[in-house]
Amino acid sequence: MRIIFFAGKGGVGKTSVAAATGIKSAELGKRTVIMSLDIAHSLSDIFDLGKDLLDQNKGKPIQIKKKLWIQELDIHEEMKTYWGDIHKYLSSLLNTTGLDEVLAEELAILPGMEEVSLLLYINKYVHEKKFDVILLDCAPTGESLRFISIPTTLEWYMKKIFKLERTMVKYLRPVAKRVYDVPLPGDDYFQAIEDLFERLKGVDRILMDPEITTVRLVTNPEKVVLKETQRAFMYFCLYRMNIDAMIMNRILPADLKDSYFVNWLEGQKRRLEDARDYFDPIPIFAVNQFRGEIIGYDSLKQLADQIYENENPLQRFYKEEPYTLSKVDGGYCLKLKLPFIMQKDVELNKFIDELIVRIGGFKRHIMLPRQVASLDHVKAKLKKQYLHIYFEGENHG
Ligand SMILES: Nc1ncnc2c1ncn2[C@@H]1O[C@H](COP(=O)(O)OP(=O)(O)O)[C@@H](O)[C@H]1O
Ligand SMILES: [Mg+2]
Repeated sequence: MRIIFFAGKGGVGKTSVAAATGIKSAELGKRTVIMSLDIAHSLSDIFDLGKDLLDQNKGKPIQIKKKLWIQELDIHEEMKTYWGDIHKYLSSLLNTTGLDEVLAEELAILPGMEEVSLLLYINKYVHEKKFDVILLDCAPTGESLRFISIPTTLEWYMKKIFKLERTMVKYLRPVAKRVYDVPLPGDDYFQAIEDLFERLKGVDRILMDPEITTVRLVTNPEKVVLKETQRAFMYFCLYRMNIDAMIMNRILPADLKDSYFVNWLEGQKRRLEDARDYFDPIPIFAVNQFRGEIIGYDSLKQLADQIYENENPLQRFYKEEPYTLSKVDGGYCLKLKLPFIMQKDVELNKFIDELIVRIGGFKRHIMLPRQVASLDHVKAKLKKQYLHIYFEGENHG
């Protein structure tokens, strides 16, 4: 089993690169599905297929070549299949105003339904062994980051909030009926969430297992794009996902003679050097700007040859783990690879058995193993690209 995410800013070439990789993978004889997480699906356009074909297919995988499938999720279909009772409740909730703030906040933690549907598919495909390779054409950076945070957020939600909420509602319902117009969730809603969680079980382990899942960041030699790539890089590390290659797309051919392009060529050269500084030692695959748009099987295949040359696109190109927990003198050390941050940007909070790492607007809940959770003293140090979090103190577990 192999899962590869293609992520990056809008327009950098994620869909093209994912599609090209799919072609190579299928030609190697692997049953390959390319799934799109981008609401603005464009897989079918890039393969130059009729839109009707996919519309009729209602979001299921469609075979386009020997061993090659594409799938563009149809959220309306997903809603019918997986979200019935949850959706019913949430809609009635949204129709009501004046909801108690705390309850509203906790309910709002329910993450994006599209993204969860996708996780359900990944889990299903992995367990049914329907495909050998799943390639994910991600939404632009911001949204795909929400996607990767879902398994840990859900785990936290089920552990900390769900039971409390269920009990609360049980006692509140008789009172609330008389006092408020706010609909409280019924048992169907809770059952539906529980079922959903059951079906998602294990997907976080799949995504964090570098033997199975890696991320490839697609980028361009431009300042603004590279900035966003750095951010994405750091967040994927925070969520413990392995980045095994960078795809530097749309490099202008160096032999361009036209004076119009002089500044572009100069600028790109500098950005390429920057990128090497930033991402070293992760390999960077360079891809030229093509003469025209990349559409259809043959030009995608050309793209694939440029990216991977004769290498197997399914190998793990870079193997270092971004995340380790080890025993040190007097306690434990959790080492997170978090390049491009400053110590002052990091905020740590520990509540009993969970650690909350906050970096800017982002936070991650990390569930701690028991022997670590029982140590009260937490401090962090940034050393080069790694955040070292030390847990020390009396062990009273
Ligand atoms: N190396 C390239 N040379 C020329 N055109 C490219 C190249 N890479 C991508 N494109 C074109 O750029 C557009 C955006 O690419 P796409 O893969 O859809 O980006 P994303 O999925 O990241 O939004 C498409 O029209 C695609 O054909
Ligand atoms: Mg795209």
